[in-house]
Amino acid sequence: MNEFDVVVVGAGAAGLFCAGIAGQRGLSVLLIDHADKVAEKIRISGGGRCNFTNRDVGPANFLSDNPAFCRSALARYPSQDFIGLVKAHGIAFHEKHKGQLFCDESSEQVIQMLLRECAAGQVQRWQPCTVSEVRPMAGGFELDTSRGSVKAGQLVIATGGLSIPKIGASDWGLRLAKRLGHRIVEPRPALVPLTFSPQVWAPFAELAGLSLPVIVSTGAAKQRGQFSEDLLFTHRGLSGPAILQISSYWLEGQPLRINLLPDTTLADELRAAKSGSKRQLDTELASQLPARLAKAWLARLGIEGTRPMADCKDKDLNVLASQIQQWELLPDGSEGWRKAEVMRGGVDTRQLSSQSMESQLVPGLHFIGEVVDVTGWLGGYNFQWAWASAAACARGLRVTPQ
Ligand code: FDA
Repeated sequence: MNEFDVVVVGAGAAGLFCAGIAGQRGLSVLLIDHADKVAEKIRISGGGRCNFTNRDVGPANFLSDNPAFCRSALARYPSQDFIGLVKAHGIAFHEKHKGQLFCDESSEQVIQMLLRECAAGQVQRWQPCTVSEVRPMAGGFELDTSRGSVKAGQLVIATGGLSIPKIGASDWGLRLAKRLGHRIVEPRPALVPLTFSPQVWAPFAELAGLSLPVIVSTGAAKQRGQFSEDLLFTHRGLSGPAILQISSYWLEGQPLRINLLPDTTLADELRAAKSGSKRQLDTELASQLPARLAKAWLARLGIEGTRPMADCKDKDLNVLASQIQQWELLPDGSEGWRKAEVMRGGVDTRQLSSQSMESQLVPGLHFIGEVVDVTGWLGGYNFQWAWASAAACARGLRVTPQ
């Protein structure tokens, strides 16, 4: 039977990175993936340019039922280390927005970099290959795979989250974790567009394609999230970075609060315009907001837009302003796993070591990357978690004496 110090299941971001480091530490490593191609999610990420990390990463950029868990791994493998690796491989990159780093050319460069790191560690790769059974035993694990059985001194599960099933996402890692006694924090689609019932959405459906900067928030106290980003109207609901970010915090039954005009006190502006402006209300409002949006809002509230500003009542202007700046609306769901960029939830970190990602229940078993209950914001944070958790794990793996 084939025997390795380490078997890593899942050749995505975390699995490839972990395998490369472990191999370069002198461990014999087998990397298994059921897909034909490695790292499909890296390939499609960042619109094909992979937002591979963020210059500014801290625990506050992540969600988890155990928020302090990610601190150690993030501190021991900061984004500067990954940036250094990218530079060492000669990959050109640029900063787009809020510290987000993208390849100048293609995400394929990140994949090739990870494969070169694996080659430097003499990592063996079985692909496509499925694992039908995992048996913990004295001194390690026995795996039945579609390429035969294999013994592993240590086992790393890097099978990722549930989003985008058509490119290889599976719940295999979560099922294995559960079968071996681990708690699972309920998986939910995150970084995903939100949808609204047809009745709620009817007045806004014609705004599809319109985008504007907003402040969006949801929840209260520790569960509260707030983001200042662009929002995009779609035929079925809302999308854009603001909504993707807030979707990770949104819980069913909770409203969103949106300020569609974050840099102005609209009521003051409109009241001031009563004396200073000869415009109609619709024209005045369209000087503050995209004209289509201004029109839709007036129609929705039944306010006559052709009224001269001087004839508008303060009361009406205040209602209009508060509707625009404190818009409260209740999503009826999300676009689901098909469109979600990541999974919220996963293997409960309270049963893992934050130093090595090793299970506290099954010695030698490790979980890294998105399968773990650590979910990053939009902006390169999810890849940084994949790199950091993989590095923590790879450095903690035991080297077997020869
Ligand atoms: P990942 O999903 O990368 O890898 C899991 C691997 O396990 C896959 O290769 C899969 O085939 C394999 N696998 C699954 N089940 C298996 C089984 N039963 N047996 C064997 N193999 C199995 N993040 C970011 O930071 N910046 C970005 O720009 C983007 N952009 C982006 C765009 C889109 C469209 C998506 C869907 C996601 C992103 N992300 C992102 C998120 C990011 O891609 C994600 O968080 C990481 O890829 C997670 O890395 P993992 O290695 O944990 O899983």
